[in-house]
Amino acid sequence: MNAPAISATITFIPPHECILLTGATGFLGGSVAAQLIASGHGPGLLFLVRAQTPEQGLQRLRDNLRQHGVSAAQSRALSEQQIILGDFLDTAWLARETPRLMQVDRVINCAAVASFSKNPTIWPVNVEGTFAFAQVLSRSPRLKRFLHVGTAMCCGPQRESPISESWEFPEAEQQLVDYTASKAEIEQRMRQALPTLPLVVARPSIVVGHRSLGCQASGSIFWVFRMGFALESFTCGLDEQIDVIPVDYCAEALIGLTLKPALGHDLYHISAGHGSACTFAEIDEAFALANGAQPVGERYRKVEPDDLKSLASSFATRIGPANPRLVLRALRLYSGFADLNYLFDNSRLLEEGIAVPPRFTDYLDVCVKSSSGVSIATQMQADFK
Ligand SMILES: NC(=O)c1ccc[n+]([C@@H]2O[C@H](COP(=O)([O-])OP(=O)(O)OC[C@H]3O[C@@H](n4cnc5c(N)ncnc54)[C@H](OP(=O)(O)O)[C@@H]3O)[C@@H](O)[C@H]2O)c1
Repeated sequence: MNAPAISATITFIPPHECILLTGATGFLGGSVAAQLIASGHGPGLLFLVRAQTPEQGLQRLRDNLRQHGVSAAQSRALSEQQIILGDFLDTAWLARETPRLMQVDRVINCAAVASFSKNPTIWPVNVEGTFAFAQVLSRSPRLKRFLHVGTAMCCGPQRESPISESWEFPEAEQQLVDYTASKAEIEQRMRQALPTLPLVVARPSIVVGHRSLGCQASGSIFWVFRMGFALESFTCGLDEQIDVIPVDYCAEALIGLTLKPALGHDLYHISAGHGSACTFAEIDEAFALANGAQPVGERYRKVEPDDLKSLASSFATRIGPANPRLVLRALRLYSGFADLNYLFDNSRLLEEGIAVPPRFTDYLDVCVKSSSGVSIATQMQADFK
């Protein structure tokens, strides 16, 4: 398997600098780790991992890095000393690890419960645990940057697209799901209560697949497109644009924002923006081409969210074996975001010299190929933890 391409935007940092990465056993964090390792930063990395022992933590990390194209040799070069055992759900470990945390120069905080489900750990992890972690690091005289990964969708509904970066948020009750409410809350808390934290927030839009590995590491959100085309129906119109970026581009931008010595802002979208977003019709064509099929085109029906249930009778034949109640719930949740029809302005990111994002249709065929043999229902599970 080929290692992911090394980004031109990855800046050289002195070898004695230490970067702490959280969430490296996940989708975004795994891609960030893979790119940092490929660009020679491996020895200076620390990883916050949930595990019983450093050995188990290292194994969990290596298992994920394999999915992100990290070679066995690169993976073997990582050691148990680079693993910090810790969980944002129970932050007692913070006291034990404070001396090591004080040696860290930069943090890339990708860890979160990234789920649209009603998961009771969302608030304790994404808000309370994350805040406790950031609070300890805010006391570090050595820390140069705390790059926190937010989500562009934390802006809430009823905004005028294209959306510009803003520290204004709607009330938590107006957010579509607990997840986005929690992501808005932690940004506000860190910014207001931790003035000494060198905080930069990066908010990705919708992350789908990888330019060369497709959905190998995760089929997150790709299943929504598969479902829409299989059902030949969804709630967005064919002429509507969707702001999608690949995980390796997102990782490249996160690393660029972490390593660049000075930044013009403390808040960035990582998004396709106006220049790289694709319409649903373009995605339909690319999807059909990759499958050797005809685009859904005129057969496509835009439905109202309340009418999604009328599709349930065809779930089994069109989607394959799946729990129809779960499919319907998933379609409803994702249609809520699709209907916002948001594009996220990325001019701040481009002004920092980060590469122009690719279009989803440029690499969609890789996602299709890597999803063959994986059912839509199986792929959907990635987003319902
Ligand atoms: N994927 C997207 O489309 C997208 C879009 C916008 C923003 N984001 C943001 O990107 C970040 C990463 O998302 P992702 O898609 O990579 O999610 P993911 O694949 O679910 O990975 C989440 C990571 O967080 C870790 N984590 C979860 N609970 C934790 C806890 N209690 N303590 C410590 N670590 C914990 C997980 O560790 P375990 O392996 O131990 O569970 C995993 O490494 C999140 O902040 C998310 O809000 C994602």
